[in-house]
Amino acid sequence: MLSAGDGNNAILSPETPKPHFRVENVNVWVKKKPEGWQQRRRRIARGELNGSTERHVIQNMTFDVRRQEVLAIIGPSGCGKSTLLRCFNRMNDGDNWRFEGSIKMNDFDIYDPQLDVVELRTRVGWVHQKPNPFPKSIFENVAYGPRIHGLFRSNAELKEIVVDNLRRAGLYDEVSNRMDDLATGLSGGQQQRLCIARALAVSPEVILMDEPCSSLDPIATAKIEELIDELRPNFTIIIVTHNIAQAGRIADRAAFLCKVDPENSEKPAKNESVPGTLVELSDADVMVTNPEHPLTRGFVTGRFG
Ligand SMILES: Nc1ncnc2c1ncn2[C@@H]1O[C@H](COP(=O)(O)OP(=O)(O)OP(=O)(O)O)[C@@H](O)[C@H]1O
Ligand SMILES: [Mg+2]
Repeated sequence: MLSAGDGNNAILSPETPKPHFRVENVNVWVKKKPEGWQQRRRRIARGELNGSTERHVIQNMTFDVRRQEVLAIIGPSGCGKSTLLRCFNRMNDGDNWRFEGSIKMNDFDIYDPQLDVVELRTRVGWVHQKPNPFPKSIFENVAYGPRIHGLFRSNAELKEIVVDNLRRAGLYDEVSNRMDDLATGLSGGQQQRLCIARALAVSPEVILMDEPCSSLDPIATAKIEELIDELRPNFTIIIVTHNIAQAGRIADRAAFLCKVDPENSEKPAKNESVPGTLVELSDADVMVTNPEHPLTRGFVTGRFG
């Protein structure tokens, strides 16, 4: 081990943090839905029928997610953003899809068959596009995860967990006197912050958010953005957003995904069956103001997508 004065400390100190996730050569296929003869005829006419029963959705993605960064995933509809996000806590697992490649979290392959998927999902939380509180009380929504995973020793401790996480989600002051009311009676923005509190209550390291503001008004959206900013020092956050300005405001880096025309890498693919690829990953402010790739430029300036 080198010590101070060896002249090499610029490399050793401060220690370069390891990435939180290392995504390597990830490819995803989903099973095609059964289709009628008319749909099939249309696809033959478009030259899309290749006899395969699967659709290649994500092609050869390799990138790192840094610890405690907010990484935004942007791109046109259908390019595989949600599918990629779901890979980080294995929400895609099931018969109708196939995964190749590896995603390492803290150097451990999350696709290792030995891995306990329930444990993974407590460490990598999920916030849905539309707020989806359980039809239970506000208190019970946040208490749900700690109850299932036995994360408390007394009722007082459970109450503390619930209050702390409602505070962290910036909701406590608004609901402190109606903790036993049904969560579904809250406004959309409050419900989304409750869902974030619910995700935080099992102490995850990572929070995945799939367009968490898409059903919210501008004021509720601003509150969620403020909240993401407050969570930033303690969590790694990966967020899919359709809102490029939002990516610029809240993210440290942004990844642009797109189906690229196989014959011209500067154009989006017209053919539905082309898989999405990672076109560019850079600092979010660079991505929204001065992206490198012509396709990214076309997308952020609204020329397509
Ligand atoms: N379970 C599934 N069964 C069949 N096809 C699927 C499934 N999940 C995703 N796909 C297909 O994979 C492709 C990518 O879908 P995905 O939902 O990841 O796109 P997206 O970028 O999130 O789009 P959007 O911006 O509209 O949410 C689409 O063509 C979609 O039809
Ligand atoms: Mg999506």
